[in-house]
Amino acid sequence: MAVLGIESTAHTASAGIVGEGAKVLGLASDMYRPPSGGIHPREAANHHVEVLPGLVERALADARLTPSEIEAVAFAQGPGLGPCLRAGATVARMLALTWERPLVPVNHCVAHVEIARALSGLDDALLLYASGGNTQVIAFGSGRYRVLGETLDIGIGNFLDKLWIALGGTFPGGPAIEAAARTSSELLPLPYTVHGMDVAFSGILTAALALSRRGASREDIAYSVEATTYSMLTEITERALAHLGRRDVVLGGGVACNQRLQGMVRAMAEGRGGQSFAPPRSLCVDNGAMIAWTGALALSAGAVSPVERSAVRPRQRTDLVEVGWRPAGVSGRAAVRASRGSSGGASRSPAPSASGSRSAARPR
Ligand code: ATP
Ligand code: FE2
Repeated sequence: MAVLGIESTAHTASAGIVGEGAKVLGLASDMYRPPSGGIHPREAANHHVEVLPGLVERALADARLTPSEIEAVAFAQGPGLGPCLRAGATVARMLALTWERPLVPVNHCVAHVEIARALSGLDDALLLYASGGNTQVIAFGSGRYRVLGETLDIGIGNFLDKLWIALGGTFPGGPAIEAAARTSSELLPLPYTVHGMDVAFSGILTAALALSRRGASREDIAYSVEATTYSMLTEITERALAHLGRRDVVLGGGVACNQRLQGMVRAMAEGRGGQSFAPPRSLCVDNGAMIAWTGALALSAGAVSPVERSAVRPRQRTDLVEVGWRPAGVSGRAAVRASRGSSGGASRSPAPSASGSRSAARPR
């Protein structure tokens, strides 16, 4: 079995090929980096159109496979920036038609979760999905990934990116803030905004920028922001574990690369007799392999789309997707009770992100 996946939801264009057991056979990615400020969707889409054909060729060469050995073509249908999504979908449709293979639409958030879950070997873990546009505590239950808690405003990654750009840095901010934070241990006061199992970041952004105007160093701000926001994420994850009676945590999404966040979640989970897992960096950030793997799972459940019904869905939330490839378990029912209702939390959309990166709630 070999499935090709195309990722193009925001800044990263990527082609990945996976085989049985989520084995990554080939992966080639190229990130659009704006010269300054945030991402302009049209410019990012132009970048993706230009690089995707070459990335597909590289992934095939990496995997030592020919198109005839590819069983299906998966692509990220949403959520994401409309022009970027359409760029990847167009390439995927063209390949599916040319190679005469099924086309499998995949939700980008579910893909972050599925690749992390597959690599972890932890089947019934709670998921902490921390990325650019999303920050969600998720548990599987009755056929869907249920969002138990999430950001009420912007995603943690968008928050880190915006902060770093406002402090004079460039996109992406998360890794730069991680490096700067390593050189400080000065905890400056910042708001700690946890509401039940939800979090919010925009007040922290305002407060961090005020500290900067009063002369605080970038390093001290970076340390304080990491200590505060990653504590918040660890707290809501622990609350969800306690409510569901679970012990293990799997992290996914670009911010899950962060060593401090990984360390805090690990200490919390181990303190409760469980364990935690985060994928390697190349599979935490946006990548085609996670789309390919989720495409393989969806294919096994028959979730194939004819080209004419494969429109992109820029606002498709995690909890809107039917997960036909997982049996619903007993603990799954507890997740449904703990979540915001059987149709998920789609009725409550967080405010669109004002940064260049995109959020699950960003309008078309
Ligand atoms: P989403 O998955 O919500 O649609 P996205 O696809 O834009 O978001 P990802 O590629 O999953 O984002 O993650 C990118 C984000 O991860 C960026 O905001 C970046 O700053 C952040 N990030 C990457 N590495 C690190 C790190 N080491 N520490 C903290 N944040 C990081
Ligand atoms: Fe992502």
